[in-house]
Amino acid sequence: MAWKAKQSAQLTIEQRDEPYLTSALLEKIKNKIMPRYATGQGALMTTLHEVQHTYGYIPWQAMIEIGEVLGITAAQVADVVSFYEDYHSEPMGKYVIGVCQSIACEVCGHQALMDHLKNKLGIDVHETTEDGMFSLLGMECLGSCDNAPCALVNGKQFNNLSISEVDELVAECKNNG
Ligand code: FES
Repeated sequence: MAWKAKQSAQLTIEQRDEPYLTSALLEKIKNKIMPRYATGQGALMTTLHEVQHTYGYIPWQAMIEIGEVLGITAAQVADVVSFYEDYHSEPMGKYVIGVCQSIACEVCGHQALMDHLKNKLGIDVHETTEDGMFSLLGMECLGSCDNAPCALVNGKQFNNLSISEVDELVAECKNNG
């Protein structure tokens, strides 16, 4: 599973005075996104993409603000954020590496790739390196099962990956800074 279990009972939401939904974001949500949908729930995923595109992730406080503007509960917003791999509730590294862990990639060596990346980067799945360079994710099927094992690096797909090719990808990211 790619999902990250929420520690809801222990979760402390950091609040800042300045809202995450700036006037520019609010204008876009209310005048461009919401009119395209019959309900606030319908507008949620597009709104989440907009906020994530702005901040690189969707802060918990922003989920509360999104719920208020769309007329749904913060829990409904958080449920969608935590369900889809595309949404992040924490800041991510500059390079997000997602290794497919669905069935075709699983039988073609995804675990070896994942273990290698964990050791190489010194992080577990759903973690980010201390220098903020890399985040590691487990992904569900990337739609290229005949080219397993596959992974995404910042949304770009790489197929038929070997461990040495993974090393090259990581080195390339480091070289690019
Ligand atoms: S199982 Fe990995 S791309 Fe389909």
